[in-house]
Amino acid sequence: MGLSIGLVGLGAFGSSFAALFKAHPLVSRIGFCDREAERIKRFAEDPFYKDKFSEGDAYPSLDAILKAKFDALVVITQPWLHAEQCIRALEHGKDVYSAVPIVSLPDASEILDWCDKLVQTCRRTGKHYMLGETTVFHPETMYCRRQAQAGAFGAFVFAEGQYYHDVDSPGCNLRKVQEHRLNSAAGREWIELKKTYDARGIKGGPMHYPTHSTSGPLHVMRTHAVKASCVGFAAPKDDAFFSGEFGNETGFFKLANGATMRINEYRHIGMHGEEAFNVYGTLGSFRHDHWIDKQRGTKLSVEEMRDPLPQEVYDAFYTAMNRKDPPKDRVGYKDDDFEAKKADQRVYGGHRGSHAYLVHEFVSAVAENRPPLTNAWEASRYMAAGCVAHQSAQRDGEWLNVPDWGTAPER
Ligand SMILES: NC(=O)c1ccc[n+]([C@@H]2O[C@H](COP(=O)([O-])OP(=O)(O)OC[C@H]3O[C@@H](n4cnc5c(N)ncnc54)[C@H](O)[C@@H]3O)[C@@H](O)[C@H]2O)c1
Repeated sequence: MGLSIGLVGLGAFGSSFAALFKAHPLVSRIGFCDREAERIKRFAEDPFYKDKFSEGDAYPSLDAILKAKFDALVVITQPWLHAEQCIRALEHGKDVYSAVPIVSLPDASEILDWCDKLVQTCRRTGKHYMLGETTVFHPETMYCRRQAQAGAFGAFVFAEGQYYHDVDSPGCNLRKVQEHRLNSAAGREWIELKKTYDARGIKGGPMHYPTHSTSGPLHVMRTHAVKASCVGFAAPKDDAFFSGEFGNETGFFKLANGATMRINEYRHIGMHGEEAFNVYGTLGSFRHDHWIDKQRGTKLSVEEMRDPLPQEVYDAFYTAMNRKDPPKDRVGYKDDDFEAKKADQRVYGGHRGSHAYLVHEFVSAVAENRPPLTNAWEASRYMAAGCVAHQSAQRDGEWLNVPDWGTAPER
């Protein structure tokens, strides 16, 4: 008997994970859940899902799917909902995968309280939580993880990470994303709730969605921030998108391993999007797809950087992700074999090919009853660094202590 997995939230982002979760060889049953009925229908009526989905496994709300028997839930709802929903799932005896971040709310202290509750709930229930942090499953991060395990960096010296995503980015316009997220039952409830924060003068900022910038360096170095100082760049005046005072925030951190870190979270910047990090050590460094030591720099290809997927997982994803346009010949490809290369790339999904690895890591962790790489303890480190940085920016760069919950207990 394989695993049963319920997908909660089939909006813009959740939709892109359905085929991969369904196709994973260790998954035998899949459920769909969304408050918007038509978002379920697209999947429920698709013949591709028929062998693992039955009509009774369509659920109109989280409350309904919590009562059903599933080994795990995948929560890809709006960012202000994740923490409470994931904690409820854990308390109902389910392992849980969450879209990033742990939670995004205007109040930094409230977010830190949710981190604490999440860690305590995982500890108490023994159930597993995984943050679906795409950056941790980028090819660059996989390569750096291997180099760190091999000791190739030496002692860590410095790291820098950035998430540049301008509000008016033509590739992914954040005003349209926000409009879409608010245009649903859950979105309309948030519009009302958000007014209560506004009335109390509580203002968030870009560092309340910090995980694409903090996760890479902290994950590779297996460390956490102990102190943060941050400065902000003023948000444009009279622009309703920016409800906080800062459009961009630049954070500086002292880390537990003695290294320093600089993090940029920018939503108001005239350049195409960038989600990247560099890590520097006493023996070697990683910078812009290059491994650099004291003699030379070597450019690395994506294929050299990424970990291999198990063959049976690759094969299952290959069939699923190419089902609409199956290539004639799938046996390897040469550099000039454009069609075959495209078919291979589809296997890995979006965000620099991280989707396949996110799905595989979560399913494997549930099957093996082990904490996933981006478990609650680890995910809290990414989130806490951002929250405290934002609090510092609101106090004109004052150095503040960053809380830490340690690492996941070994099984
Ligand atoms: N690179 C990344 O990691 C990345 C990229 C994009 C989005 N995301 C994250 O993905 C999440 C989803 O974003 P989106 O754009 O798909 O949002 P969306 O609004 O399109 O989808 C969210 C869905 O969740 C559903 N939902 C909310 N509460 C529910 C409940 N109680 N029961 C059942 N369904 C419920 C909504 O009806 C909606 O369909 C966000 O939190 C975002 O941060 C991450």
